Amino acid sequence: MTDTGDNSLTVRDNRTGKEYQIPITDGAIKAAELGQIKVADDAPGLSTYDPGFTNTASCRSSVTYIDGEKGILEYRGYPIEQLAEKSSFLEVAYLLIHGALPTKEQYDTWVHEITHHTFLHENVKTFMQGFRYDAHPMGMLMASVGALSTFYPESNNIADADNRHMQIVRMIAKMPTLGAWAFRHAQGKPYVYPDNELSYTENFLAMLFKMSEPKFDADPRLVKALDVLFILHADHEQNCSTNAVRSVGSSQVDPYSSVAAGIGALYGPLHGGANEAVLRMLRRIGSKENIPSFIEGVKNGNEKLMGFGHRVYKNYDPRAKIIKKACDDVFEVTGVNPLLEIAQELEKIALEDEYFVKRKLYPNVDFYSGLIYEAFQFPPEMFTVLFAIGRTPGWLAQWLELVQDKDQKIARPKQIYTGDRTLDFVPASERWAGSAGITPGIS
Ligand code: ACO
Repeated sequence: MTDTGDNSLTVRDNRTGKEYQIPITDGAIKAAELGQIKVADDAPGLSTYDPGFTNTASCRSSVTYIDGEKGILEYRGYPIEQLAEKSSFLEVAYLLIHGALPTKEQYDTWVHEITHHTFLHENVKTFMQGFRYDAHPMGMLMASVGALSTFYPESNNIADADNRHMQIVRMIAKMPTLGAWAFRHAQGKPYVYPDNELSYTENFLAMLFKMSEPKFDADPRLVKALDVLFILHADHEQNCSTNAVRSVGSSQVDPYSSVAAGIGALYGPLHGGANEAVLRMLRRIGSKENIPSFIEGVKNGNEKLMGFGHRVYKNYDPRAKIIKKACDDVFEVTGVNPLLEIAQELEKIALEDEYFVKRKLYPNVDFYSGLIYEAFQFPPEMFTVLFAIGRTPGWLAQWLELVQDKDQKIARPKQIYTGDRTLDFVPASERWAGSAGITPGIS
């Protein structure tokens, strides 16, 4: 037994009566330390069972801090409220990637770099045109980001800092172009090339909505609102898609393949899709008079109040507060979405109701975001694409941290095996002997 002082955990294995002292660092023990706890020298060591990583830290990270009880979210130490109000998406992207705010010169170089990598190889356009007319834009985004690795084969040289930087710039720059082209594809409209005279978010809106006008003129209030939405989605520490990026990245594959895995994870309804469900719910409720009976149904366990509750936040999701404010700015331009009134009344009633208070259920980021996206005239399938564009700097900041972290190894969890052992294999010719019409053979 090693003496590790007060900052340790004493474990007594009742199977053997042995005691172990395991060091505690930063409020955690190393899972590998449990491996020394064995019933016999040649027996397997103790491990932990944690499906969904509900209580397992997979990395040390200095990118994003969350305190779910207090409703705090910070990127590199800066509160999300301040970044949403006073920064821009590209500045936040710089902050996430580089770990500190840029000087004027660094910022200008960063914006110049991103702006001048927005174009895609013409062959990307050709293969995007090969998707079915009704292809889901997230499927198109995932496939095309993965395919970018074939256009930049040098991207697998992840040990080279300049090379890593180049791919990071390319991905942040090209994601809106890919997202906009996926959107235009579903509408049967020609793809619009980037306009490098526009800001990042203006350019995205232009590629989405430009028709025959020579210059697309987006309302600055809409540009600001979308930029804020990108900032709010830019990172959220070790969520499902970030974990996918890190897990695939731990094999030392190129960053395009890692981010494609993240897009796949985000595509799933348990992760990126709740805002769409909120819209469906609000439409179903239909009018304020129907809210009390809907709330009763939720309390009786017949359904969920979508856009409420969060695994981490047991307080108002700080992003939801900011989005609620952004709603006002957007609706000033587009006219009020009639569902807003229902959402606000629903929130008011729920926040006073004991069922929700007792369970610490508050609006999350998805409660109001769908209403804004709808006001922009995005179809629901595009909501997750917008999320992916916003999340790209976060995925890449986490990937960068991963590939430079000496503690990291290839992600390879253990399992608890529950299947058969040491069965005797009987060849098909014997197992199937006598079965009519079946001729066993080797193919
Ligand atoms: N409506 C009604 N009751 C709810 C809700 C809800 N939205 N969310 C949780 N509860 C209840 C549960 O029924 C449970 O009640 P019980 O203790 O009586 O059994 C209690 O609150 C605790 O809920 P859990 O499901 O244990 O909480 P968990 O952390 O596992 O789930 C989740 C979090 C998935 C987000 C959940 O709150 C939910 O399904 N919300 C609706 C979907 C949603 O809005 N998802 C978006 C999340 S934000 C994002 O991913 C970007």
